[in-house]
Amino acid sequence: MPSFRVETPQRCYSIVVERGAIARAAAHVPEKAGKVFVVSTEDVWRHQGARLGQALAARAHEVLFLPGGEDRKRLGPVETLAEEMVMRGGDRSSLVIAYGGGIVSDMGGFLAAIFMRGIPVIQVPTTLLAQVDASIGGKTGVNLQCGKNLIGSFHQPIAVLIDPAVLETLPEREYRAGLYEILKAGIIREPELFRYLSEESAAVLARQPAALERIIADSVRMKAEVVSSDEREGDLRRILNFGHTFGHALEAETGYTRFLHGEAVAWGMRAAIYLGEMSGHVSAEDAVDMLELIRLYGPIPPVTGISAEHLLRRLVHDKKTVQGRVHFVLPVRIGEVTVVAGIEERLVMEAIRSALQ
Ligand SMILES: NC(=O)c1ccc[n+]([C@@H]2O[C@H](COP(=O)([O-])OP(=O)(O)OC[C@H]3O[C@@H](n4cnc5c(N)ncnc54)[C@H](O)[C@@H]3O)[C@@H](O)[C@H]2O)c1
Ligand SMILES: [Zn+2]
Repeated sequence: MPSFRVETPQRCYSIVVERGAIARAAAHVPEKAGKVFVVSTEDVWRHQGARLGQALAARAHEVLFLPGGEDRKRLGPVETLAEEMVMRGGDRSSLVIAYGGGIVSDMGGFLAAIFMRGIPVIQVPTTLLAQVDASIGGKTGVNLQCGKNLIGSFHQPIAVLIDPAVLETLPEREYRAGLYEILKAGIIREPELFRYLSEESAAVLARQPAALERIIADSVRMKAEVVSSDEREGDLRRILNFGHTFGHALEAETGYTRFLHGEAVAWGMRAAIYLGEMSGHVSAEDAVDMLELIRLYGPIPPVTGISAEHLLRRLVHDKKTVQGRVHFVLPVRIGEVTVVAGIEERLVMEAIRSALQ
């Protein structure tokens, strides 16, 4: 199975995508590293702790738990864990292994970014979403009361170990939520992946190993390429936000509880596709194919009772708003998107209404 390189000014590292990658985790811990802290949640540990525990059996390590849940992805638990690390002898030579879903990737990565002004982190993602997205690219952070991921830091890992075998215990809804980020990869940059997802939905939904490994590897390669050519949020990296401007508004509007991140992104992609069509960026034919692909992997939980006006107002507060102008990532054709600012509010409103239907 493949291994991909990420090369950024901050650091160069490998992403291994392989069944059994976790069993070889100890080999990725540098010899000179001090205390190893595995950061996870109790839920992840109950399902998959043995796998990493066995892999690290010969290497002294401690397991620390973060609370799970988007509403607990806050600064407080990060501070608590940092205190705990100091109490257990953590210092500048310590290393964090972030073992869990995207919440652990973000919080564990952020903890490593700020502990003693920065210690190395190895990302070992256990949800599909974290494997293809959250664990790659070095973005780490936590939420504020008033918005998602508003405190954070770029902190590239020293390695990312992606083991599709951990997905065996992932609940169906979480699995689908991760698939939406893979659909995103197909729409924005990978026409071959798009075609595969359209033709092989049964194998993908059944988590057949070959299908799973193929779609993970394609998505990881895409994200590694984008991040390598644009570590911070320049125009290229911005394409990864496809569906996210709308999606974040939906998550915020519903208090981060009603939709999983990937589900909100799926809805947001629908809105972006409608907007792309209404503003003349994408043909009706391609738009239909994209909407159909999202439908194939649905249904997205219903969006009943959500006000289009409220969502529009939220968009203006998204942190990707640059000087009051909302940037939208809009489809051009299958495998290509463009970043556009200054779209008429009337069209945005219409797109939201269409996506909500
Ligand atoms: N930093 C980034 O670039 C980036 C990108 C995308 C998303 N994110 C963040 O990721 C977060 C969402 O991540 P997520 O969807 O992975 O959610 P999550 O971390 O909450 O995990 C989802 C659920 O699955 C459980 N779980 C995890 N692995 C499991 C396994 N192998 N078997 C059984 N259960 C398992 C968890 O306990 C949790 O209940 C959001 O906070 C989002 O902002 C960050
Ligand atoms: Zn996302």
